[in-house]
Amino acid sequence: TVVVIDFGGQYNQLIARRVREANVYCVVLPYSKTAEEIRAYSPKGIIFTGGPNSVYDENAPKVDPGVFELGVPVLGICYGAQMMSMMLGGCVRRAATREYGVIDVRLGKSPIFNDIEGKQECLMSHTDRIEEVPEGFEVVAYTDDCPIAAFQDTGRKFYGVQFHPEVNHTPFGSTMIRNFLYRVCGCHGDWNMADYARKYISYASEKIGDKKVLCALSGGVDSSVAAVLLHKAIGKQLICIFVDHGLLRKNEGDEVEKIFREQFDINLIRVNCAERFLNRLSGVADPEQKRKIIGEEFIRVFEEEAKKIGKIDYLVQGTIYPDVIESGAGDASVIKSHHNVGGLPDYVDFKEIIEPLRNLFKDEVRKLGEELEIPKHLVWRQPFPGPGLAVRCIGEITEPRLNILKDADAIFREEIEKAGLQKEINQYFAVITDMRSVGVMGDERTYDYTIALRAVTTTDFMTGEWARIPYEVLDTVSRRIVNEVKHVNRIVYDITGKPPATIEWE
Ligand code: XMP
Repeated sequence: TVVVIDFGGQYNQLIARRVREANVYCVVLPYSKTAEEIRAYSPKGIIFTGGPNSVYDENAPKVDPGVFELGVPVLGICYGAQMMSMMLGGCVRRAATREYGVIDVRLGKSPIFNDIEGKQECLMSHTDRIEEVPEGFEVVAYTDDCPIAAFQDTGRKFYGVQFHPEVNHTPFGSTMIRNFLYRVCGCHGDWNMADYARKYISYASEKIGDKKVLCALSGGVDSSVAAVLLHKAIGKQLICIFVDHGLLRKNEGDEVEKIFREQFDINLIRVNCAERFLNRLSGVADPEQKRKIIGEEFIRVFEEEAKKIGKIDYLVQGTIYPDVIESGAGDASVIKSHHNVGGLPDYVDFKEIIEPLRNLFKDEVRKLGEELEIPKHLVWRQPFPGPGLAVRCIGEITEPRLNILKDADAIFREEIEKAGLQKEINQYFAVITDMRSVGVMGDERTYDYTIALRAVTTTDFMTGEWARIPYEVLDTVSRRIVNEVKHVNRIVYDITGKPPATIEWE
């Protein structure tokens, strides 16, 4: 295990992902953990992340100094490097100019720069800089504005870099991280999803024994992968309740059911309650209220079904790692907890929750899904909001408008895939607006709905740009939707980034 200590920087999860991409398991811990708590992980290496603070601020987060006595290699990145330098007796000051952007860095001799030569591009983003390295350290990289861009003490195996090796803007960064992991920490790089699956399956079958486990399936990737994983461990002792609220994409519910039943022979109860959801949503136009109703109703349906089953022992949740990482900045005790379906059921009689994906990032969940032989098209589906198409049907949801949306969305996705753009664009979907406008078809006046197309490129879904889809593709989509889907006479393309817009319309 490698321990990533979080100081609240924006790329923290990216660091953890880079480590795992090097097939080394890692955990992200808040900086408030003590050296003893960190030692309990038996780390082979420790990485300090960047962070928004200045090391000499009164409340600047600091690692427990005992961490430097564990005899474990340390890599400090940006704020992490400055903090290490300061805590070990170096000096950090505000620089005359903020260094920001992709900058040439000259690399010297270091185990972490093995196979990386001379001048390289890297992403710099700092206001403070290291003025003096602590005793025992040598400087091994510099830029025009930053005389100390990397430093090391090869004896104690402490390394610091001012730049960000974890981002794509630093092309040599992943090699550097691998060098640190393999050459300095002695990691083997043998952690992978096949292994994870094997270990989890044997752990779960032992832990669960002959007990009963219940899983709420939303139809999305996470809960599907969690269910299949547990099914491999305990077979028919797993009961899945698939609450189909009718707000999934076209044919999606049927596809999920088919795979579950035919490929895996999973114990599945599908509750078709589209009508019930539509009734509850009738007359409701406010986005937040829509979300709330769907979350609550999902739980209610689930509870009703669970009651019929009676006592169970475990409840499965598809929680993934980004949902549980404790924040390093601010109040470290707050755990981000994003339950897609709106929280836990109050009334389900169980003794424990199991979260088989709790330690995995989204990409890893998908890889795990592939290992488990869930078909690629299901595993690599795009992110889909918990409230489903409800937040893409602007204003009040009605069945006819929902059906228009499903058809238009299916056409858009089909054409994007035909054009081979599905990998380049990170999320793409149709939205049905609550507006009608005048058009002409044949010789007839029409007064019909407007469909908006939304497509974004993003790495983290926190910010994004609208995708530059070729005009010909947009043209084909527009023509097909208007010709094939009744009651649509106008197509618009959303050309706003996030911020200021969000990816979803509601
Ligand atoms: P926004 O619209 O906030 O969306 O820019 C960012 C990403 O989050 C997805 N999204 C959700 N995912 N439950 C989810 O699991 C939700 O309630 C939810 N709302 C938005 C959205 O699809 C995009 O990928």
